[in-house]
Amino acid sequence: MRYSASIVAGATALLFGGARAQYSLTNTYDASNFFDSFNFFTGSDPTHGFVEYVDGPTASAENLAGTVDGAIFMGVDKTTVNPPNGRRSVRLESRDTFTKGLFIVDVAHMPASECGAWPAFWMFGDGSPGWPYQGEIDIIEGVNNQVSNINTLHTGPGCSIANNGSTNGTHLEGGDCNAGNANIGCGQQTYNNQNYGDGFNDIQGGVYATEWTSDHIAVWFFPRAAIPQDILAGVPNPASWGPPQARFNGGQGCNIDEHFYGHKIIFNTTFCGDWAGSPEVWSSNPECSAKAATCIDHVSNNPGAFEDAFWKVNYLKVFSAPANQTKREVVPTAFRA
Ligand SMILES: *[C@@H]1O[C@H](CO)[C@@H](O)[C@H](O)[C@H]1NC(C)=O
Ligand SMILES: *[C@@H]1O[C@H](CO)[C@@H](O)[C@H](O)[C@H]1NC(C)=O
Ligand SMILES: *[C@@H]1O[C@H](CO)[C@@H](O)[C@H](O)[C@H]1NC(C)=O
Ligand SMILES: *[C@@H]1O[C@H](CO)[C@@H](O)[C@H](O)[C@H]1NC(C)=O
Repeated sequence: MRYSASIVAGATALLFGGARAQYSLTNTYDASNFFDSFNFFTGSDPTHGFVEYVDGPTASAENLAGTVDGAIFMGVDKTTVNPPNGRRSVRLESRDTFTKGLFIVDVAHMPASECGAWPAFWMFGDGSPGWPYQGEIDIIEGVNNQVSNINTLHTGPGCSIANNGSTNGTHLEGGDCNAGNANIGCGQQTYNNQNYGDGFNDIQGGVYATEWTSDHIAVWFFPRAAIPQDILAGVPNPASWGPPQARFNGGQGCNIDEHFYGHKIIFNTTFCGDWAGSPEVWSSNPECSAKAATCIDHVSNNPGAFEDAFWKVNYLKVFSAPANQTKREVVPTAFRA
């Protein structure tokens, strides 16, 4: 046994050395190909928002989606008063689906911290069995005049995470990713006032990096002035970045491979709905409730308030882990006898 263990250790060291093997780029989405690679979702909002998601031709004709300054633009209707079917907006979903990997998005502008808005950059699986059993990873999300990002996972029953390893100051709201029949999930509240909404836009945004492995799902935010050199150079190495703003550890509490697979990547901006527009959330927010009695009243009557409710994305890149980096099977079985 001892003999065989030392061969295993030797083989591992030989294969991977001291340095970790690098992630390799598999997909780049930018202004040149984004709208060929992402579909416009035109169904009704599953979270009951006051929104009308439009198709590509409509979005294009009304300047709700396109390219601007070499970046991907996704916006909302900022002129119509009392839109009959909800305020027009877009939701774009990747045609490609992913399981594990490193997801790096460079965002120059995101929807501002405006009462009524609920923007999100997130991933989820809607194959079979679908939500929440294939998991959901919320990378950038918030509502109303929120100033700091919230990262959340949603899963079927049986996935409870710990968040040790997250940056100091990040607060785990609850570890059960199926809380509230998965509607609440396991969220981490961050306390960085540059990582969301107005504060994010004030610094021309930055880069969000999400590492999804069998062991953990971790989210880093880098302000534009502090994007690591390895990301700028296209050879990202998460091991060099220090603690993430939110780290969700699997392990005993959650088998990540069972609870997360086959994810699309999505950008959406909705209004009101189950979170932003919930009567308790709206009425307990002094700034928002001073604007109108309900979220829908505000969103419906004040199109100009949503002038800055747009995404401007420089690129989204997906990297895959070195094959079998963490797998023991790479050691020839003959050595185990
Ligand atoms: C928008 O994204 C969030 C991700 O957190 C999701 O929960 C919500 O259902 C989405 N809403 C719409 C309207 O697409
Ligand atoms: C989290 O805590 C567990 C249990 O104490 C430990 O095994 C693990 O290494 C920690 N992970 C990080 C990333 O700190
Ligand atoms: C985080 O908090 C721990 C415990 O309070 C402290 O020892 C550590 O220095 C802090 N780290 C940073 C980066 O602030
Ligand atoms: C990775 O491991 C799987 C089985 O776990 C194997 O089928 C595959 O060939 C391996 N890939 C490489 C590149 O070694």
